Amino acid sequence: MKKIPTPPGLPFLGNTLQVAGDTPALAFDELAARYDEGLFQLELPGRTVVFAYDPDLVTELCDETRFTKRIGPPLSIVRDFAGDGLFTAEGDEPVWGHAHRILMPAFSQRSMKAYYPQMLEIGEQLTASWSARQGQDLPVSDDMTRLTLDVISLTGFGYRFDSFASPELHPFLQAMGGALTEAMHRNTRPSFLTRLRQGGEAAYRRDIEVMRGLVDDVIRRRRAGGGQGAKDLLGLMLEAADPKTGARLSDENIRDQVLTFLIAGHETTSGLLSFALYNLLREPHVLAMAYDEVDRLLPGDEPPSYEAVMKLDVIPRILEETLRVWSPIPAFAVTPRADENLGGYHVPAGRPVVVLLPTLHKHPKAWERPDEFDIDRWLPERKAGHHPGGYKPFGNGERACIGRQFALTEARLVLAMILRRFAISDPAVYRMKIKQTLTLKPDEFTIRVRERRAHE
Ligand code: HEM
Repeated sequence: MKKIPTPPGLPFLGNTLQVAGDTPALAFDELAARYDEGLFQLELPGRTVVFAYDPDLVTELCDETRFTKRIGPPLSIVRDFAGDGLFTAEGDEPVWGHAHRILMPAFSQRSMKAYYPQMLEIGEQLTASWSARQGQDLPVSDDMTRLTLDVISLTGFGYRFDSFASPELHPFLQAMGGALTEAMHRNTRPSFLTRLRQGGEAAYRRDIEVMRGLVDDVIRRRRAGGGQGAKDLLGLMLEAADPKTGARLSDENIRDQVLTFLIAGHETTSGLLSFALYNLLREPHVLAMAYDEVDRLLPGDEPPSYEAVMKLDVIPRILEETLRVWSPIPAFAVTPRADENLGGYHVPAGRPVVVLLPTLHKHPKAWERPDEFDIDRWLPERKAGHHPGGYKPFGNGERACIGRQFALTEARLVLAMILRRFAISDPAVYRMKIKQTLTLKPDEFTIRVRERRAHE
C-alpha cells in the first residue's frame, strides 16, 4: 500500500496551525495544490483526517456500499444547535430515516410548483428594494441572504421575517453567523484554546439561544393559528407519520429540523446567487446571453410563470457552472464502513475522509480548461461525458442535499427576475474575497443596478 502524503507538522499541534485561519477551505485548497496524488492527510486536534480531491478517488468514496456519511467535526459541533436534524443526524439513527421519509414529498417537483408563488412574492420584494436603491452600492450577499431566508421560512413554515423591511440583518442571522463561525473554528482549534477564550463559550451559547427562541416562536405561531392540514415542511412534521414505520417526530426533533432547514435552506442558496452575479459581471458575453434569454422567454411586465421559468436554459447552466467554480459548501465527509484500499492507499474503518469540492471541481482529470467559466459544459451532450466523480456540489447518495430542486428553482427564478428588470454593473471592480462561516460567500461584494426597460 502507498503512504498518504502528510505535510510536516509540529509536535503536539500536528498540522493545526496550517489550517487555523478564517478561511480553512482556502487553506485546504492550497495544501491540495502541493500533492498530485489527489489526497493528503492532516493531524488535527485529536484526530487524523484524510482529504481527497482526485475524481477517481471521489468516485470510489461515493460508493455507498463502502463509504458512509460521517458526523465528525465540524458537523458534530453543529449538533450543539442542529441536534438530530437531517443534516447532522447519523444515518443509522432511526430518526434520520423517519424524518427523511416524512419530508421527501415536500421536495417533489409538484411541491416546487406549490412554493412558486411565495418564491415569486419574495423575489418581488428584492427587486422592489433594488429598484428603490438604483445607483447605490447594493450589498449582494446580505440581500441574497434576506431573500433566501424569507423564502425558506415562508414556504417551509408560513413564517415571515420581512427582511427587506429593515436595514439591519435579522438577529437570527447574526446569531447563526456567530454560531457557524464558532463551529468552524472549533473544528481546527485545539480544545484547550476554546476553553481559554474569555466569553467565547457564553457568546456561543447566547447565539444558540437566539436561534432556538426564534424556532420556538415559529412553532408556537403555527400551533396558535391552527394551520392544520398545511402541506408545508412544518405541517408534514407536525401531522405526518413515517410511511414505513408509522413513527412520528418528537417535539424536540421538530425543533431540530426547523432550525436545520432555516440554516441549510438559505445559507447556501444565497452564496450560489451571490457567486452567480459575480461570475456574470466577469463574463459579459454570458451576461448578454442571459439578458437575451429572459427577454425572449419572459417578455412583458407580468410576473413570470412557473412554466416559463422551467423553460430557461442559459440561466440553469450559469448556476451549474457557478456551483462548479464556487461551491457554497466546500466539503463533505465520509468514512469507510470497513478497512479500505482507496486507490492503493490504506484507510482504516472510521477514519474521516473529506471530499474537497473546490479542488475536485477544478481537477484536470475531470475538467478541460478548469479555470474558464464555460456554461457550455452543461449542454446535455457534453454533460453526458462528465467524469462521474468530478462534480458533487450537493453531496452524494442518500445523504445528498434534499433541497437541491428547491435551491435550483429559487435561484433560477430570482436570477431571471433580476436580469429581466435590471442592468447590473460593478463600478467598484470587486476582487473576490471569500468569507467562510462553514459555507462560502463573497465578502463585501457590492453591485449597482438600473432599470433596463425604463431606459430602452
Ligand atoms: C445536505 C449542498 C440548498 C437542505 C446537503 C449536502 C450538501 C448540500 C453538499 C450534503 C452534506 C453532507 O454530506 O454532509 C447544498 C447547496 C445548496 C443547498 C450547494 C444550494 C445551492 C439546500 C436547501 C435546503 C437544503 C435550499 C432546504 C430547503 C439540506 C438538508 C441536507 C442537505 C436538510 C441534509 C440531507 C440529509 O442528510 O438527509 N446540502 N444545499 N439544502 N441540504 Fe443542502
